[in-house]
Amino acid sequence: MPTKRPSNGSTTPDYLSRRGLIAGAAAGSLVGGPSWASPPATLAGAARAAGLRFGAAVRASALDQPRLRDVLAREAATLTPELELKWAALEPAAGRRHEAGADRIAAFARGHGKRLRGHTLLWHRSVPDWAARELASGGGWDIVARHIDATVGRYGALVDEWDVVNEPIEIGARPDGLRANAFIDAFGSDYIARALRAAHAAAPRARLFVNEYDLEYDLPAHRARRAALLRLATTLIERGVPLHGVGIQAHLDLGKGELATDELRGFVAALAALGLTVAVTELDCKEVDYIRPADERDRLVAAHVAGFLAAVLPHPAISSASCWGLTDDQSWLEVTAADRARFPGAWADGSSPGFNRGLPFDAAGRPKAMRDALLAAFAARPRS
Ligand code: XIL
Repeated sequence: MPTKRPSNGSTTPDYLSRRGLIAGAAAGSLVGGPSWASPPATLAGAARAAGLRFGAAVRASALDQPRLRDVLAREAATLTPELELKWAALEPAAGRRHEAGADRIAAFARGHGKRLRGHTLLWHRSVPDWAARELASGGGWDIVARHIDATVGRYGALVDEWDVVNEPIEIGARPDGLRANAFIDAFGSDYIARALRAAHAAAPRARLFVNEYDLEYDLPAHRARRAALLRLATTLIERGVPLHGVGIQAHLDLGKGELATDELRGFVAALAALGLTVAVTELDCKEVDYIRPADERDRLVAAHVAGFLAAVLPHPAISSASCWGLTDDQSWLEVTAADRARFPGAWADGSSPGFNRGLPFDAAGRPKAMRDALLAAFAARPRS
């Protein structure tokens, strides 16, 4: 199928056009097409050929679904535990670790020759209550160090990339752009360097990341966040802290306007100039219009994703690209009551907007235009 390399979200590449969709459907690769017993390529394979790892987040409970297991087994080279490695999930009571969920994902990964993305050692939204109390009452670094050691110790053999600190930036909270959280209250801004050093001691060969959201759009808050994250990375590198990469979450949203494609290119290049790797860690896309036919919705999502990927993927500093889920039914992005309320009178016949269609596969495990956009972006990546 002829493809035109998209330069940004405003041009429609051939593979997303009506003609491309029909050709794709005939090849059994799109919504409504025949089931895809022998797909032309897998995301993992196409990414590998482009020098990238492709992965997807998964919850342990979702591994009960044979269809999802099949899609994951075939399409993903790495799995990101969506919840199970977070501190509050792993250690809900002090010293009593709940490892069954993470173990299950690790066993699936091992059994299918896959790696894990280690997400995430420290996140302000996943501090167990007991740890938050200890940190607030002057508890020492040792509880953090024990958590890092135990987690990296148990899963590290499967993990090449750890998100050591998740979402450390908060615009407006502090002059240095860092998030005001339980860790900064207890240890000051140095908690990030300390966590990276602890993770490095536990996993000397792993690439250690900070991972951040709201970096992708041409919006003042995103601009400020890119700048603050670049400042943080620069400071850490200048101090010799073992930081190896930055994760761009890439929770895209059709309601957020233009992607900051030029600025994103510059941002990736600036991180690369520090010697850092960059990963796309949580790619998905929130929709705005749930009324259009599914194939049109899929085309809008795919064009937007293609615009984002065209901005970042060509840079050689990109090491991996992961989606936050693979099939729409598993997405954390839900069609909310507020979403429905934007369309008065819609679905009065008892029909439904279905799921948010912001992942590469639909709820039945059929590939959609977003998967084609990923394949095309991998294929278009310059070979070094
Ligand atoms: C989300 C999960 O997808 C949800 O199921 C959970 O309720 C909250 O966490 N950024 C991150 C991820 O770094 O860890 C978040 O995952 C989504 C936003």
